[in-house]
Amino acid sequence: MVFGASPDVTVRAPGRVNLIGEHTDYNDGFVLPAAIDRFIEFAGRRRADRTVRVHSTDFQDSAEFSLDDIQKDSEHRWSNYLRGVSKFLEADGHRLAGAEIVFGGNVPRESGLSSSAAVEVGAATFWQRLMSFHLDPVYVVKLARRAENEFVGVPCGIMDQFISALGHKDHALFLDCRDLNYRHVPLRGDVKIVVCNSGVKRALAQSEYEVRLKQCRQSVAQLRTKGLAVNSLRDVEPVDLETGRDVLSETLLRRARHVVTENQRTREAVQVLEAGDVERFGELMNASHVSLRDDYEVSCRELDTLVELAWKQPGTLGARMTGAGFGGCTVNLVRAGAAEAFARAVAQGYQQALGLKAEIYVCQASNGALAD
Ligand code: GLA
Repeated sequence: MVFGASPDVTVRAPGRVNLIGEHTDYNDGFVLPAAIDRFIEFAGRRRADRTVRVHSTDFQDSAEFSLDDIQKDSEHRWSNYLRGVSKFLEADGHRLAGAEIVFGGNVPRESGLSSSAAVEVGAATFWQRLMSFHLDPVYVVKLARRAENEFVGVPCGIMDQFISALGHKDHALFLDCRDLNYRHVPLRGDVKIVVCNSGVKRALAQSEYEVRLKQCRQSVAQLRTKGLAVNSLRDVEPVDLETGRDVLSETLLRRARHVVTENQRTREAVQVLEAGDVERFGELMNASHVSLRDDYEVSCRELDTLVELAWKQPGTLGARMTGAGFGGCTVNLVRAGAAEAFARAVAQGYQQALGLKAEIYVCQASNGALAD
């Protein structure tokens, strides 16, 4: 025990994989992620003062801060997620006590599986349990996202924090990112979610993410000049893109088309999943990848290679890049009996094609931190 005593509270928050609905959350659109069985775990106990001492088992590093003066720490960046969550809880009037906290886990970092959302949601859930607060689950999600947006400074949407908090075992979660209505959608036992990690750290991810976000805003502003009453790409129909053709540059048209068609695909994906039609679901995943690659331009050679290898394997229903892109992971829906052979063949093919090692995880959809 790092701090020499047993903990009062332990919590865990999962990473996530997004099945479909990519780059739609910050456009008020639809997403369908699942929490995976890889977690960031927190353990800790109260102190009598206002000091937080925290240790990261992943970084093998410790840091300390006072709840009365929470600042960003450029030396112990891994601690900023916890600092941000603590700061905003206090700012909202939820008074915290000093604590000794240890956290760490097996969600790979910078791999597009939302380890940072898991840390934020884990931290918020930890405080909630330690202080016996009764917080609304959606408030916890929003607070965790605020820590990422306003404290850490990454302008992400709400999907990752939402699923890490509110995922359900053996279910995906269909979320409307505008009104935050959601429902859990059962996943069939005879198909597996297989995640292939390209090993490429998400270089470019943040700067290009911001560029995409701005392009989406710009395309909405341009479409409004044509008299279309749209507030976000969520409101845009395919026919509106035709109307707006002369005010959208070629690039803006493609960016907008990805979001508009991805929202359509995601809505259909939920329907077919609920109807048990995994073949059609897989086709929609494949179409999502093509759109992300060609229209949104957030894939990369390594992700395309993994997806193309997956498409060739027996038992593959669908394959696509998942998360922000520019590295990270692919998500694959594979018939259960074929999953092991799939994993071996894709890893081998990737090694042969690019000389790189892919890690493959056959995942189980898991409970979010607040569902445990
Ligand atoms: C990252 C962000 C999410 C979402 C995805 C793309 O994971 O954190 O909010 O925008 O990219 O779908």
